[in-house]
Amino acid sequence: MDLTRAAAEALDAADPVAAFRARFAGAGEDGLLYLDGNSLGRMPVATPAALTRVVEEEWARGLVRSWSSWVGAATRVGDLLAEGVLGAGPGEVLVGDSTTVDLYKLLVAAADARPGRDVLVCCADDFPTDRYVVAGVAQARGMTVREVPADVDEGLDHSVLAAALDERVAVVVLSAVAYRSGALADVAAVTRAVRDAGALVLWDLSHAAGAVPVDLAANGVDLAVGCTYKYLNGGPGAPAFLYVRRELQEQLRQPIWGWFGQRDQFAMGPVYDPVPGIERFAVGTPPVLALAAVEVGARLVAEAGVDRLAAKGRALGELVVALADDWLAPHGVALASPRDPARRGAHVTLASSAAWQLTQALVDRGVVPDFRTPDRVRLGPAPLYTRFVDVWDAMACIREVLASGVHEGYPTERSRVT
Ligand SMILES: Cc1ncc(COP(=O)(O)O)c(C=O)c1O
Repeated sequence: MDLTRAAAEALDAADPVAAFRARFAGAGEDGLLYLDGNSLGRMPVATPAALTRVVEEEWARGLVRSWSSWVGAATRVGDLLAEGVLGAGPGEVLVGDSTTVDLYKLLVAAADARPGRDVLVCCADDFPTDRYVVAGVAQARGMTVREVPADVDEGLDHSVLAAALDERVAVVVLSAVAYRSGALADVAAVTRAVRDAGALVLWDLSHAAGAVPVDLAANGVDLAVGCTYKYLNGGPGAPAFLYVRRELQEQLRQPIWGWFGQRDQFAMGPVYDPVPGIERFAVGTPPVLALAAVEVGARLVAEAGVDRLAAKGRALGELVVALADDWLAPHGVALASPRDPARRGAHVTLASSAAWQLTQALVDRGVVPDFRTPDRVRLGPAPLYTRFVDVWDAMACIREVLASGVHEGYPTERSRVT
């Protein structure tokens, strides 16, 4: 690979989604080399106007009369994500609550759907909230957790998971893209293996949605959740999405019996009787303002096309890997993600014994990655608004910092969020 800056510029000139950069606030103006789109995506330029419209027209003037449009927002945005991002059908995706709460709802519903099975499987290296929810549900139900080990850089080995599947397993919770390394699971193969064992798999798509195609219908996925503030650019605290395959919906009943899942909601009936569709997984009043922001972000991803974004994400990752090998390896930095781009999501992770100090030095120089334990720097160049030259410049900055040793003057103790 040609590692000159001119070669990076040539990749930008040929980039079919380059124009989307101008539709994000700050991109190209704030001077930041923002490589944390896998933590919090940039704000779309259209978001403030969308929020203002909901606030000034629908809330200020429409008041309670606006509920006629608000009441369908969670499924309207869900349908948009289903079609434009997730490869699912209408009526299969709902937006609301946090990823953690959605995970809880679907995990309990799935465990209930597999009576007589007393084991929940999760990955020992999965994102904390996933492991905590699995542990909490297991404790409350008297079930056992089977944590399968995974290589911190390479992700979960399919054969290790397969060995953990038996007739006791009710539900398996896994991330499609590992939060630390970016390792990409084989969603179709794992889903098939878990289903063949008579269990259900619940996918966390937080680091996958908007970054790689997840093709839920084509891959035969039953259940999934994911957040919308990373590659979907829905904003801080944006509500999560949940997906339940249509044929499964009526077999499942989630544990939080709220009035927004109720049949004939405004009849205020005496007993809980959930609607047959995806709304049965709703709980309470939807976050109307936040949904307006998610809608803007989801539309941008759908317009750009997940396949094109994934292709660019892979190419950006390849540039990170090539530059890391050439420039950073001599400074003791190692790749901490799968080397094969087909086995990675859209972020690449580097290991360095000085990872935390390096992260602080980079942030102070306008390069924003994030730090992950134990000694990792995660680089998430979101394909919608990150240029190849941004990656090149950021990597050059990392090289400069390491060569100068300036990072060694930063505290070794972790003290701030990045
Ligand atoms: C894999 C994964 N799951 C879940 C979450 C967060 O869940 P919540 O929306 O409940 O904060 C994150 C946040 O970074 C994540 O990376």
